[in-house]
Amino acid sequence: MSQKEASTLLLFGAKGNLARVKLFPGLFKLELAEKLHPDMRIISVGRQEESHEEWIANVKSMILAKHKDTDQFLLDRFLQRNIYHANLPDDPEAFNKLSLRVKAENFSQNLAFFLSVRPSDFASIVDQLADAGMLDETNHWKRVLIEKPFGVDSQTAQELQDSISKHLNESQIYRIDHYLGKFALQNILFTRFYNTFLEPIWNNKYIDHIQVTNHETLGVGDRTTFYNATGALRDMMQSHILQTLTLTTMEKPKSFSPEDIRAEKIKLLSQIQQVPMDKFEQHVFRAQYTSGEVVKEGKVKGYIEELGEPSIVETYAAVKFFINNDRWKNTPIYLRTAKRLHENATYISIKLKPQNISAHEVSENWIIISIQPSESIHIEMKTKVPGLDDTKTRNIQLQGGIRHKDDETIDSYETLLLDLIEGNQSRFLHIDEVKAQWHLIDPIIEKWKDENIPVHQYTAGSKDPEASKIIFENEDQFWRSGINIVE
Ligand code: BG6
Repeated sequence: MSQKEASTLLLFGAKGNLARVKLFPGLFKLELAEKLHPDMRIISVGRQEESHEEWIANVKSMILAKHKDTDQFLLDRFLQRNIYHANLPDDPEAFNKLSLRVKAENFSQNLAFFLSVRPSDFASIVDQLADAGMLDETNHWKRVLIEKPFGVDSQTAQELQDSISKHLNESQIYRIDHYLGKFALQNILFTRFYNTFLEPIWNNKYIDHIQVTNHETLGVGDRTTFYNATGALRDMMQSHILQTLTLTTMEKPKSFSPEDIRAEKIKLLSQIQQVPMDKFEQHVFRAQYTSGEVVKEGKVKGYIEELGEPSIVETYAAVKFFINNDRWKNTPIYLRTAKRLHENATYISIKLKPQNISAHEVSENWIIISIQPSESIHIEMKTKVPGLDDTKTRNIQLQGGIRHKDDETIDSYETLLLDLIEGNQSRFLHIDEVKAQWHLIDPIIEKWKDENIPVHQYTAGSKDPEASKIIFENEDQFWRSGINIVE
């Protein structure tokens, strides 16, 4: 069903990589699914002049790159929604002209702005939109989506917030974390709260510890400048990994309304304790890849070689946190993220407390929720080996692939674009979440400035550096490997 009301989507940064790879193909998927209102329009705002024909040809090629042999009628209908508008950087009247154009073309004044631009431009674009009267909600809604990162620490996040909140209410601000648009992340709450057997064991009485893992075989590619100013901790841990943890450990919301879900997430995030500085090295580990070999790509350069200058920026980060509430007190939470490791996988591993079966045998149960590449749930249990010997046991695995062959595949940006247009904020970050996340990350970044904190090395394509095990509470804990379900 298409949307009930018309709207106009204004894409800033429409010539960037994100727009090409995700946004235009995603919007077209919404077209194919008949999700767009007949009068919905898309204005691509760029800093250079470009003719309408050139732009439409450009959009068409972005669509066809992902949707070969598509329905011609729907493609034409989609292209007709699109126009290009040049917002020239040296024109002081640029935003007034943009506002006039939206009115003159008789487009809907329900305006959704998608800012896929340099983070340093977020505040000034919002200022200029406000000055041109484009954020005034008197008769129509106005929403602004801000791409990640929202600040680079607590202070800059607060400065950005202070600046944009002069013109926007919280209900108008859509701070993105694209992991929240992933189906498997949305499914965590369903899995936890729709299955009776999980809730009674989902606590520190039965759970030994939790790990959230994100491994990539990819390196930093051509993003060296961005990455060297950011590092793994800010790039992944501050956002995607902490959000994954939050969905795994938060209390059941009063309802599944956006407000109630966000309220519980904020509560949980504020209960995670900062890393204690006096035990820093048992809580935080960092490393950087050197040259090696990874799957698909073969031989690859080390981080420093790619960058072309010395750097202590981490491409691997592992952190141990504790959550200070009744459910999780004293349960270690291990988070790790890395570029150029041996596998491409994101998963949550939950180890149940071991039980002593006999003097020399301990039972171990794991629950693993795989986010990608497979979307699956995997439970490991102990059983007796058939036969006369009662002492022989083995681990069996119950595995459930969540996705069936014909199920729809929805990219997170499709979900999030639709949420933006429909006004659903539940999969976007509230400012209090962003602040709570930086509150956990800031002290680590600060401490890392201390030259005595080592930056370990690992060979590209290898498993976690051996030395990262220092953060485990007990000797019997280890980095749990992922699972690979072929769907
Ligand atoms: C981005 C990070 O936010 O997420 C990238 O900036 C990272 O460094 C990417 O590769 C991972 O996203 P996904 O969806 O491929 O797991």
